[in-house]
Amino acid sequence: MVAFRVLCVLLSALMLLNAQQGNGALTARSQKMIAKVNEDGPYLGLVIPNLYEMNPLLESSNYTATNTIDVAGRRFRFGTIGEKKVILVMTGLSLINAGITTQLLLSLFNVEGVVHYGIAGNANPSLNIGDVTIPQYWAHGALWSWQRYGLGPDDELPLESAGDYTRKIGYLKFANYTVNVTEGSPYDNLLNNVWYQPEEVFPVDGTPEERQHAFWVAVDPYYYEISKQLEDLVLEGCINSTTCLTTTPKVTRVQRGTSASIYLDNAAYRSFIYNKFNVSPVDMESASVALICLQQRKPFIAIRALSDLAGGGSADSNEADTFTSLAATNSVTVVLKFIELLAVNSESSTGYAYY
Ligand SMILES: *[C@@H]1O[C@H](CO)[C@@H](O)[C@H](O)[C@H]1NC(C)=O
Ligand SMILES: *[C@@H]1O[C@H](CO)[C@@H](O)[C@H](O)[C@H]1NC(C)=O
Ligand SMILES: *[C@@H]1O[C@H](CO)[C@@H](O)[C@H](O)[C@H]1NC(C)=O
Ligand SMILES: *[C@@H]1O[C@H](CO)[C@@H](O)[C@H](O)[C@H]1NC(C)=O
Repeated sequence: MVAFRVLCVLLSALMLLNAQQGNGALTARSQKMIAKVNEDGPYLGLVIPNLYEMNPLLESSNYTATNTIDVAGRRFRFGTIGEKKVILVMTGLSLINAGITTQLLLSLFNVEGVVHYGIAGNANPSLNIGDVTIPQYWAHGALWSWQRYGLGPDDELPLESAGDYTRKIGYLKFANYTVNVTEGSPYDNLLNNVWYQPEEVFPVDGTPEERQHAFWVAVDPYYYEISKQLEDLVLEGCINSTTCLTTTPKVTRVQRGTSASIYLDNAAYRSFIYNKFNVSPVDMESASVALICLQQRKPFIAIRALSDLAGGGSADSNEADTFTSLAATNSVTVVLKFIELLAVNSESSTGYAYY
């Protein structure tokens, strides 16, 4: 009898352990919750860098929260925006966090597409703080081959012949940013050149371990098409009764944006990437979301409100301090409208799903 009781205690302890651990990193409880929410899908995934960008959406009367599931240090928030079922998730700063979180979202949940939004720096001199940009292409701008001093554009990069690196995308030459040289005197820079590189990608419909390369990643053509209708949207131009933007903010579709795990507050680099790549928003997450969605073959779009000039403003201040909340609010306004358009359009375009 005692032995039987001991056995029962042991068994229930084992079951408890099992319920907590499940397989891999997922608890059995999480697995159950995930299976259950997935039956109610598909969801539109909203991937958001920081709390100050997520909070205006959480506080919006257009968002209704249902439940949350915490996995791997991330909180997946379920709810609805109009007719659309959505999952909100905050990534945390920068490319690694954004990549991990987007992959978790797509691996765990029944997701029809991803809308990424937040604030950004602005590299495009014809745009203004408060404007909301929707680029057609994104790239990770800080995967580099750093060339040794003494070599130049005619010299092959290490491992270039193996196809690991390339000189096709272009380079930054540090010596070009030398200042305070006496007229006529020679100058150079030991930091030499950095060459931009594409990412290695492993698409879900490719062969595992067989790499492909991607630098500019296009947003979903259909999402981009309907985002044109956002360009009429009226945005907030003031943070309070006395402090307003000097221009009327607008929504604008642009050609390109770049991301890197670098907070850009440098006028020379801002101007270089604008002239070289025609980028408008510069941020620290969008390219990760783009690269994950590209590989998982999920439609995505990124909506970024400009909160500062990435170093192009006045010398002693970064405007992000003043206009972050206004930009975050404007990005949420645009995202809400985009989701409304998506709900309307997907109903009317279901008939074209076969083309
Ligand atoms: C460096 O500056 C020279 C002179 O302005 C320019 O022709 C060249 O394209 C620049 N090189 C790079 C890599 O930016
Ligand atoms: C160096 O050059 C910068 C940019 O042209 C200028 O603002 C600065 O005053 C110069 N500094 C010195 C010590 O000459
Ligand atoms: C408006 O915001 C600015 C910048 O944050 C601040 O300096 C100013 O005191 C605010 N004015 C009012 C009336 O709240
Ligand atoms: C938000 O809700 C209001 C009030 O129900 C509605 O008029 C508006 O169209 C909604 N906006 C969006 C972008 O969904």
